Amino acid sequence: MNQDSSLIEQIVERYDRDVGMLIPMMQDLQAECGYLPTDSLRALAKRLNVPLMRLYAVATFYASFRLAPKGAHEVSLCMGTVCYLKGSAGISQAICKEFKVAPSGTTADRLFTFTAVNCVGACALAPVMVVDGKYYDGVTSESALEILQGLGPAEQAAQADAKEAAE
Ligand code: FES
Repeated sequence: MNQDSSLIEQIVERYDRDVGMLIPMMQDLQAECGYLPTDSLRALAKRLNVPLMRLYAVATFYASFRLAPKGAHEVSLCMGTVCYLKGSAGISQAICKEFKVAPSGTTADRLFTFTAVNCVGACALAPVMVVDGKYYDGVTSESALEILQGLGPAEQAAQADAKEAAE
């Protein structure tokens, strides 16, 4: 039994092989792997004797599931009404074009995962972009690209956070 099938076995047994517990099983799988790898989904579907498409339907229906690994940074662009009226759609297009990333996708180099989100509660500052929990207000396509071009690998981000916290 390889590592992948042993993980699937553990998860399935945890829920008494109950297909009705498919969502918690997939949540556990994602908690272990950070996302839902195709091979693991295939193994889970086979183990539960359900069509793989059913798992994909669940994975794509719930926004909390990821079918690809996360990037080193989390980038959210607000697409709420106020931000949208102030140009967030254009900013989103600029980010997708510049970094060749799909909305809700991760850049090929895994630098960041880009997500369009609903109102983040800072409408007076629209348009708003959030990078690793830090809010940037009044962003434009140019400033958004500049911020993202300045992102370094995850370790660098962690060091910068630690330095900021120490000051
Ligand atoms: S609509 Fe963007 S912060 Fe509210």
